[in-house]
Amino acid sequence: MTVLTDIGQLATCPSASTDAGLVDDAALVWDAGRIVWAGPASDLPDDYAEAERQSAGGRLVVPGLVDCHTHLAHAGDRADEFVERLKGTSYLEIARRGGGIQKSVRSTRAASDDELAESARARLGAMLRQGVTTVEAKTGYGLTLDDELRVLRLYRQLDAAGPQRIVSTLLAAHIVPPEYADDRDAYVRLICEEIIPAVAAERLAAFVDVFVEDSAFTADEARAVFEAGAEHGLGAKLHADQLTDTGGAALAAEVGAASADHLECVSDEGVRRLAEAGVVAVSLPIATLVLGQEPLPARRLLDAGAHVAVATDFNPGSAPSSSLGLALWLACTRQQMTPEEALRGATAEAARALRLDDGTGSLVPGAPADLAVFDAPSLATWLAGWRAEPAVRTVVGGETVWA
Ligand code: NIG
Ligand code: FE
Repeated sequence: MTVLTDIGQLATCPSASTDAGLVDDAALVWDAGRIVWAGPASDLPDDYAEAERQSAGGRLVVPGLVDCHTHLAHAGDRADEFVERLKGTSYLEIARRGGGIQKSVRSTRAASDDELAESARARLGAMLRQGVTTVEAKTGYGLTLDDELRVLRLYRQLDAAGPQRIVSTLLAAHIVPPEYADDRDAYVRLICEEIIPAVAAERLAAFVDVFVEDSAFTADEARAVFEAGAEHGLGAKLHADQLTDTGGAALAAEVGAASADHLECVSDEGVRRLAEAGVVAVSLPIATLVLGQEPLPARRLLDAGAHVAVATDFNPGSAPSSSLGLALWLACTRQQMTPEEALRGATAEAARALRLDDGTGSLVPGAPADLAVFDAPSLATWLAGWRAEPAVRTVVGGETVWA
């Protein structure tokens, strides 16, 4: 049993709440990998008097961060496109010329297993140092049966190796790969009839995701993919209303998706439907910034009663940064989310977007003892400026995995 004392401010982020459950001058107790007590240090029960004590040095302690939207495994880089975009060529124009996602598909298919594993491991290490203890990881740069399975098997290995927990998502419906350009129906059939059943047979993913956009898949194609996913026990996620309003939010509500992600171009009707259906709206403010878009209307979503999560969208094109801290700071500064709403977005609400109901994302009795200590006296101080420094300490299942 471990008692963490001298916590300047503790954020418990209870799931059924809308605030961050802040406690000043707090203490936290865990045993066998689970939280057993959290509250003001002055209320710490005598029962824990004999337990090992550690000090947080008056710092901020938050639930281990949950990055609920990443494109973790990919090879190659798209720095040339970054420079082209700075000179005025749009993301969609680059995609039309065979760059963008297609370029990353070519490099990822060509990469060796070791290369893919090594880069993914290094990225997870960087995230761990930033306090990220749960990571959703998508495929989507393979786009053949074998290449999609290869990445999902890698995610399973990374999850088993720890320390982070990985939640895998099949994004075979990222774009139509060039070899199917003249027969997109055949590609959708490949996803529904071969890839999804194979993924389900090996229990390799929890979700199926579709990029619903003019340049990617239509709502009807997405419905077919979600239906096949549901038949095989996979939950739904969508890249929705990112570059144009394609009714992605309404589709997410219709199919009972766990989350609708991006939403920069969501309509008022879409906002209402997401709130009503309890679909988590996932804000990806790094991608919004990189593509020079107007931010997602987080305030409208929150005021309508929707659940809003915040994630990095880490990928080689629209969001080449794995800094969840940066995403949180942007959520505050560009989307008018309060620090409490932003932190919930990368903890309890992100766990909801992944349908994790074991307490992940909260520091309440029974929840996993996953937490991060940041060198700030309070949440507001931590998020008032973007800090490049790593977490002081990251704990997964009660064990210190970074300090
Ligand atoms: O979430 N929107 C589609 N997919 C990614 C972009 C991936 C890429 O550019 O490689 C996204 O922004
Ligand atoms: Fe994405």
